[in-house]
Amino acid sequence: MTIPTPALHAAAERFGTPLYVYDAAELDAALARVRAAFGPARVYYAMKANPNLTLLRRLQAAGVGFECVSPGELARAEAVGASGGQILVNGPAKSGAEYVSGARLGATFIVDREEEVGLLPPHSRALVRVNPALEVSTHDHLATGAAGSKFGVTLVQAPRVLEALRGAGHTALGLHVHIGSAIRDAQDFTAAFGRLAELRAETGPLAVLDAGGGWGLDADLHGIAREAWAAARAFDADLWVEPGRYLVARAGTLLTRVVGHKRTGRNFCLVDAGMTELLRPMLYGAEHPVTALWEGTDCGVWDIAGPACESGDLLARDVSLPTPRRGDLLAIGEAGAYGAAMASTYLSRSRPAEALYEPGAADGTDWTVIRRRETPQDIWAMELGRNR
Ligand code: LLP
Repeated sequence: MTIPTPALHAAAERFGTPLYVYDAAELDAALARVRAAFGPARVYYAMKANPNLTLLRRLQAAGVGFECVSPGELARAEAVGASGGQILVNGPAKSGAEYVSGARLGATFIVDREEEVGLLPPHSRALVRVNPALEVSTHDHLATGAAGSKFGVTLVQAPRVLEALRGAGHTALGLHVHIGSAIRDAQDFTAAFGRLAELRAETGPLAVLDAGGGWGLDADLHGIAREAWAAARAFDADLWVEPGRYLVARAGTLLTRVVGHKRTGRNFCLVDAGMTELLRPMLYGAEHPVTALWEGTDCGVWDIAGPACESGDLLARDVSLPTPRRGDLLAIGEAGAYGAAMASTYLSRSRPAEALYEPGAADGTDWTVIRRRETPQDIWAMELGRNR
């Protein structure tokens, strides 16, 4: 994140907090890093990481397609003008609506179980998702390629499902694998891609190998790319990838203001954002970098606590900060992926505004609000029972 501190203060002042801010330059840089590592692989952004339409448009303009896992995500892809080869329809339990709109948009389906062959619209293009049955280096909830996980077909079933697709008149493009998210160790990918490549003897050549996403922010992208290409070449296939977090995490920062502090055995820095704005620390024990945007020499160790009536509502623990005062501004980093996307209206809290930083963008200003702050009325708009 390269947004200058004065610009962060200005945005918090102008748009209020909590506020998600995104650095357009960092978004572009992340895509450039992916392209540098993966070369001509086709990139499908897993929009679950951050489905904001402005970010989708920016990625689409750069030639990126979308991996979608719900009717709503498909609607977003359509809303930014994606179609045909730019859309993947994925998911372990797709609804009828997803088959219908996927077919209308000419999307490629990722088949997650054999029964789906009979559910696909006629003459679909499809990949078969394979579960390589591997333990990987991430939080249990984020591992999707373990033997006990609900995703994909087994290595033994995969060749048969490809055959079944062909037999049913579909185009069996190839295989798909996604072993989990925030994976730290590139060896996990080596193992997964290796297991797939062993299927070559049974499947013969394939048009596509989709190596999924899941790259931790500090993972060795070039190493992962090398292994993915090796597996793709084993099938004489083109390589597709589906990064989510890697493309958007570092571009995003959650700005939150200090409400006050207290010392009760532990030191709590109380802020105006919490589990409703950024759930990852509470849900996965995720650690996001915290930066104090105020000066001070009197450093202490603080827990960053949100406003919710739940003890787990902590954004970070044991952070070294100068003594916070009411009104001070805190930046929670690496929050562009699965931050705003997983924000909720629990406690009838309005989801935050989101703003994009791009110095001198079209209208000559540095900031564009790309999602306005939700209002209480937005939240109850679908309910009966109001007087006005
Ligand atoms: N492809 C498939 C099939 C996926 O299921 C996912 C993520 C991705 C690609 C993108 O993975 P990424 O590159 O972002 O790691 N809410 C969690 C992350 C869940 C990811 C689910 N699937 C979090 O906050 O860490």
